[in-house]
This record gives sequence, C-alpha cells and structure tokens, in this order.
Amino acid sequence: MKTFEKLLLENKAWAQDKVTADPNFFERLADVQKPDVLWIGCSDSRVPSEIIVNAEPGEMFVHRNIANQLIMTDFNSLSVLQYAVDVLKVSHVIVCGHYNCGGIRAALKKQNPSLLMVNKWLKHIKDVYRLHHQELESLSSEDDRVHRLVELNVIEQIYNLAHTSIIQAAWKREQRPTLHGWVYGLNDGIIKELINLPPGSEINPIYQYTEESA
Ligand code: CO
Repeated sequence: MKTFEKLLLENKAWAQDKVTADPNFFERLADVQKPDVLWIGCSDSRVPSEIIVNAEPGEMFVHRNIANQLIMTDFNSLSVLQYAVDVLKVSHVIVCGHYNCGGIRAALKKQNPSLLMVNKWLKHIKDVYRLHHQELESLSSEDDRVHRLVELNVIEQIYNLAHTSIIQAAWKREQRPTLHGWVYGLNDGIIKELINLPPGSEINPIYQYTEESA
C-alpha cells in the first residue's frame, strides 16, 4: 500500500473510532472552534503538536514552520497570530522548539547553494547565533551549540511575539495572552519550560508602541 493510501484508510478508521466513542463528536466541533491556545512549533515530523500534549481537535490553533519562528516580515505566521489573539481570543501562546532541530543545525553551517529559500528562512537563526555568539562559541562541541541555540531561538521568538503590536495591544486591553517558551526532547518525549512572559511583562522601550498606535 502506498503511503498516501494508508493515510486515507487510517483517516476513515480514526473518524469511525471518534463517532463510536462519542456520536456527536463531529457535529459539536463543526459549528464553532474555541481553542484557548495558539501553538507555534517546528514542522519536524517527530514533533506533532497535538499528539505530544494529548490535545483533541478544537483545543489548539496551530502554526508550524522550520525551526518554529515568528518573523516580522512573514504574513503567514503574523496573520495566524492576529487571528488567534484578536478573534479566537486565546489565553496562551506557546512556542515549542525541539532539541536536535535540523533547521537550527543547518543554520550553524555554511549556506547551501541549492536551498536558496531555506537559507533566507534560516538567516534569522543565524542572527540569533550572532546575538549570542560569545556564549555559543564558549561551548566545546557542535552538539552543545545546537542544543543551546535551540533554547535561545525559542526565547528569541517569545521576545519577537512580545514586540508585536498584536501582543502589546492585547496585553493592554485584555491582560492576555501569556507567552510560553517550551522545548521538546526527541530522546524522552518530555517538554521543558524555558521562559514564561505574563501579560504586562517588561519590554525594552525601543520595542514598545507609543500610546496612539498601541
Ligand atoms: Co525542527
């Protein structure tokens, strides 16, 4: 059986299981989604967002890209953020990175001439490396540098979130959402919290909005 055929068959079995356990499962979900969480994660197939936190359909609004980044010129992630915060009114935004991330590992190497788009996306990780150059270069092995850059990248994405007008306005208006920076271990399946920014957290003044625009 081909991979995609297996997926379609598994889908039928899954939908049947859901209805057997709860006959109104899909009817209830079809009308409205009211997730309380926005999840920003890596596209890596080994870090499937809902599965690793045992979340059901309807629980999380999800955005995934290479190395779980929120980039200020990326309409994709920013529109997901705006919809989750301003329309769905989520209380929590989670950025979940993972150890041994291929995107992070690649960003510590020279650029690949055959992956021009990926290079541009990973350029932002190289900037995080440059920001923390001293700490990272003090580490003796490449694995240690990847490990630490995975963590620093998650923390930087939390600051990127806090620097958006979307988050600052929601903090001021409705005292939500809380921003969580997490990292997932491929070896043990366990998530560790790295940073937690509650509404109203201190933001460097150069990233704050003036009264008129906030
Ligand atoms: Co990854």
